Amino acid sequence: MRYQDRVAVVTGAGSGIGRALTIALARDGARVAASDIDPKGLAETASAGPAGSVTTYPLDVADRAAFSAHAEQVRTDLGPASMVFNNAGVDLMANIADMDPADLDWLFGINIGGVVNGIKAFLPQLLETGTAAKPSHLITMSSAFGLIAVPAQGAYSASKFAVRGLTEALRQEMILDNLPVSVHCVHPGVVKTNFGANMRTAEADADIARTLFDKAAMTTPEKAAEVILRGVDKNRARILVGPDGRVMAALPRVLGVSYTTLLARGARLMNSRSKKN
Ligand SMILES: NC(=O)c1ccc[n+]([C@@H]2O[C@H](COP(=O)([O-])OP(=O)(O)OC[C@H]3O[C@@H](n4cnc5c(N)ncnc54)[C@H](O)[C@@H]3O)[C@@H](O)[C@H]2O)c1
Repeated sequence: MRYQDRVAVVTGAGSGIGRALTIALARDGARVAASDIDPKGLAETASAGPAGSVTTYPLDVADRAAFSAHAEQVRTDLGPASMVFNNAGVDLMANIADMDPADLDWLFGINIGGVVNGIKAFLPQLLETGTAAKPSHLITMSSAFGLIAVPAQGAYSASKFAVRGLTEALRQEMILDNLPVSVHCVHPGVVKTNFGANMRTAEADADIARTLFDKAAMTTPEKAAEVILRGVDKNRARILVGPDGRVMAALPRVLGVSYTTLLARGARLMNSRSKKN
């Protein structure tokens, strides 16, 4: 029961990695405040966790006022949080030239705006509950695409690079001021969740995009949650999830920015082969 005295907050808990994190935290003794924009998925998550350990809250992470109110409600219901997982996120598959600005606003509002809102709403509680001996934890969900950019994922990559920048700066600010909050940035490769099915893309590309996502998925959400919680326990600044996550993290380390030429040439080759077949 390693999280027995913890109040843990998980956004995007109605599916995938957020659901797996919620259940793993609750099984290990945490009182979990699980939120999502989708009440049905949230109810399924709560019923899969140990009875009474998961409290559910409807929340759109892009709504700053709602996120602040949520933080106060969690404090009233469960006590101040000592672990916060800013997990909710969405994807957009589109080339930059074809991108609808409204889709871009939607994605940034959730993927980066939602993380900023989560940090601003809950950091005071984390500062209150953390001690030098037992720090509190703030976790943000970036992606392997927060370490490299790939074609048709420009908006998503931009949002996840931004999450990384914000998180790495915040980690340093906590260390600089000797504050008891450990800050962690998570970079998964492709995880088998509803993420592909929920992504926005041009109607004509939807089936192929989702098939590609499902084929590429290497890691289960349960395994991802296990790796994330282990990384948090070990106070890792950067938590890589899945073999593909580790390979993608190595690309810019080994190749520098010329990884972009290599990936683009590879993608062009694959496109020309699939046109021939
Ligand atoms: N699945 C992957 O391959 C993968 C890879 C790298 C990073 N990630 C990141 O992991 C996180 C979780 O994704 P997942 O794979 O579990 O996807 P998922 O689609 O299964 O779950 C995401 C959850 O977020 C919720 N959500 C969407 N918009 C929201 C909003 N505005 N407010 C609150 N909740 C909202 C959805 O309802 C859903 O329950 C995301 O940040 C994603 O970018 C996923």
